[in-house]
Amino acid sequence: MNILIIGSGGREHAFAWKLKQSGRIGEIFIAPGNAGTATLGHNLPIDVTDFSGIRQAVIENFIEMVVVGPEVPLVEGIHDFFLADPQLKHVPVIGPESHGARLEGSKEFAKDFMLRNNIPTAKHFTVHPGNLAQGIEFLESVDAPYVLKADGLAAGKGVLIIDHLEEAIQSLKEMLGGMFGSASSTVVIEEFLSGVECSVFVLTDGIHYKIWPEAKDYKRIGEGDTGLNTGGMGAISPVPFATADFLRKVEERMVIPTIAGLRQEGIPYKGFIFLGLMNCDGEPYLIEYNVRMGDPETEAVLMRIDSDLLDLFVGVAECNLDKRELVINPRTAVTVVVVAGGYPGSYEKGAVIHHLDTVEGSVVFHSGTKPEGVKVLTNGGRVLAVSSVANSMEEALALSYKNIGRISFEKMNYRKDIGKDLKKAKG
Ligand code: AMP
Ligand code: GLY
Repeated sequence: MNILIIGSGGREHAFAWKLKQSGRIGEIFIAPGNAGTATLGHNLPIDVTDFSGIRQAVIENFIEMVVVGPEVPLVEGIHDFFLADPQLKHVPVIGPESHGARLEGSKEFAKDFMLRNNIPTAKHFTVHPGNLAQGIEFLESVDAPYVLKADGLAAGKGVLIIDHLEEAIQSLKEMLGGMFGSASSTVVIEEFLSGVECSVFVLTDGIHYKIWPEAKDYKRIGEGDTGLNTGGMGAISPVPFATADFLRKVEERMVIPTIAGLRQEGIPYKGFIFLGLMNCDGEPYLIEYNVRMGDPETEAVLMRIDSDLLDLFVGVAECNLDKRELVINPRTAVTVVVVAGGYPGSYEKGAVIHHLDTVEGSVVFHSGTKPEGVKVLTNGGRVLAVSSVANSMEEALALSYKNIGRISFEKMNYRKDIGKDLKKAKG
């Protein structure tokens, strides 16, 4: 079976790596891909939102399934585009249609969906330019800190957490005035939840579902969770505080009502649902939905899946996911992300990455890289995700850090404290 993976990051490299292990896989194509995916399949120089370019590639290369990595093409309707085209409609797409993708594409839609389906979440109020006064009243009625969220997609930057009321009111006005362009012409104000975060991933065919291993992601650039937000600096799976009891609550209070709500509301959904949640004293609260897998969580989580990923995707396409097997490995997987100096601010591209061939015992997933002859060059802020699996988190981390020590490129940077908070928590 020929597969096209849409995207160019570590998540897509990890999908390609796992799909390559399937007994039923044919050729793998990745659009646009990176230097890592080029070692597993054929990179196609097509942008993730160039639907007509993707259409042509699917027809020319006899693609039989499309796996969509990032959210933007889903929110822009790539799945709908396939269904509407007589030549593409028989090609299954892993990723929801645009209606379901609004769970990530619109915070207002997601919050209203959670409320309608009794899914525990923070109290909120939605502000449009027309009801600013009520928005300010809501801010005055909740305690600091204040959480302001741009309704639309803002490349992971649309959430502000502010300590002082006056500043929060000012930022609310600036957001409505276009701080994040049209993404913040509607703003969701939320009550602040205090707790520890965890991500749970669900694969669904719209009726049946499989819960994948959970993960913890490290978002900030600096050690001790300081500094600016990034796309993710590392991930650990399993998460020690996500006990069987906690995960049962997540399934009963979030996963089951989400799938049932989608069905009841007539929203078709084939793909991943990523629950970003907060553990508040053992009780899960849903912070957000994403309609795709996480990056870098995928680079850790896939290392714990022993079953055939293509078989699971075929189950999604054929709506018989309940007949497919998901075997989860109990060992611990970690990924440590290596970034370009300066990221998430400005950084340089084009540095030569040395000694990738000396890595032993870890898998190096490429995020922002590109091939140039026999060389591999940096081509983004997040450059590599070095993943390892072992019997303990400590052993897995030791492997990833040992291998990062073997790799080098100019101005490389990474967090040296991935997992440290969890070691402390274990006492
Ligand atoms: P989001 O883009 O919705 O994932 O939000 C980005 C980050 O803001 C989350 O990962 C949380 O760390 C934080 N956050 C979002 N909503 C809340 C909330 N209601 N209470 C506390 N922290 C939040
Ligand atoms: N690592 C967080 C995300 O993929 O959104």
